[in-house]
Amino acid sequence: MSFRPAGSRPAVLGCAVALVFALSASIAAAQDAKPAAASSAKPAAAASAAAPAAAEKPAAAEAAHSGVKLGDAAAGQGKAAACGACHGMDGNSSDAQYPKLAGQSEQYIVQQLTNFKSGKRQNPIMMGMAAPLSEQDMHDIGAYFAGKSALPGVADQALVERGEQLYRQGDAAKGVPACMACHSIDGRGNPGAMYPQLTSQHAQYIQATLKAMHDGTSWGDDAHARIMPSIAQKLDEKDIAAVASYVEGLHATESAAAKPATP
Ligand code: HEC
Ligand code: HEC
Repeated sequence: MSFRPAGSRPAVLGCAVALVFALSASIAAAQDAKPAAASSAKPAAAASAAAPAAAEKPAAAEAAHSGVKLGDAAAGQGKAAACGACHGMDGNSSDAQYPKLAGQSEQYIVQQLTNFKSGKRQNPIMMGMAAPLSEQDMHDIGAYFAGKSALPGVADQALVERGEQLYRQGDAAKGVPACMACHSIDGRGNPGAMYPQLTSQHAQYIQATLKAMHDGTSWGDDAHARIMPSIAQKLDEKDIAAVASYVEGLHATESAAAKPATP
């Protein structure tokens, strides 16, 4: 069962493709200091992993064209009351098994709620929470959490070096693209392309998610949903622990990311 209305596919598709290439180009520029062979290999890996993202358009991007109004954060605050018990009233959950929603994009929140409701992303708790929500509710709640700021955690110093390497450069030898190619250098993600924010997310949740993806879990059967399982498959347990810890300590600015222990 699909929640995707038809229409405007080529426009959004073109947009996603353009984004992916713009990102690859900016990475190439950022890596000017690196040896030429290495810097050309990394963006290429990112771009090839990114290519499937353009093949199918994410669901929530279309909602804006299908009569559902963009989210109203004020209406969303009331509708989000039931979510606070696990995710925190301001979207900063205190229990690390529940992902932080603060600062996450409206589009991504809508997409995942749609996935939970349809069972594409399987989680019994969230299926129950998403079931009564209308598409408009999802947008309002998404807008509410998107307007909050994620509070960063602290990265494990012993893991930061490897984590930062994976995040910023990937691992060409293993065929792992740089995470920042899609999730952006400061971890804020890319709402238009439906690449979620990772910055400040609980390492425990990231780790559990990447392990599940490593083992083949995906949140749907479209090309977009196949991106992360194909990347996570190439990460071993140490890689996952390192990048998860780096992400939790990642602040939303580049200079702060270099000093993850600063509160
Ligand atoms: C009883 C606890 C609980 C409640 C209440 C709850 N959630 Fe969740 N939520 C979870 C868990 C657990 C996950 C992680 C699911 C997984 O691992 O796939 C999650 C995941 C999510 C995600 C995906 C986040 C991401 O980064 O991918 C969204 C979005 C979400 N919840 C929204 C909501 C909303 C909106 C509500 C209120 C209507 C809500 N949740 C209420 C437990 C809860
Ligand atoms: C080509 C683009 C791309 C690259 C590169 C990429 N990701 Fe992702 N990532 C995505 C997309 C798309 C999603 C959302 C998946 C979905 O909706 O099915 C995602 C989701 C995630 C999630 C789940 C977030 C949440 O809130 O639940 C984590 C964790 C993650 N990525 C980590 C990583 C890490 C670590 C790397 C680098 C090793 C990486 N990603 C590289 C596109 C990418």
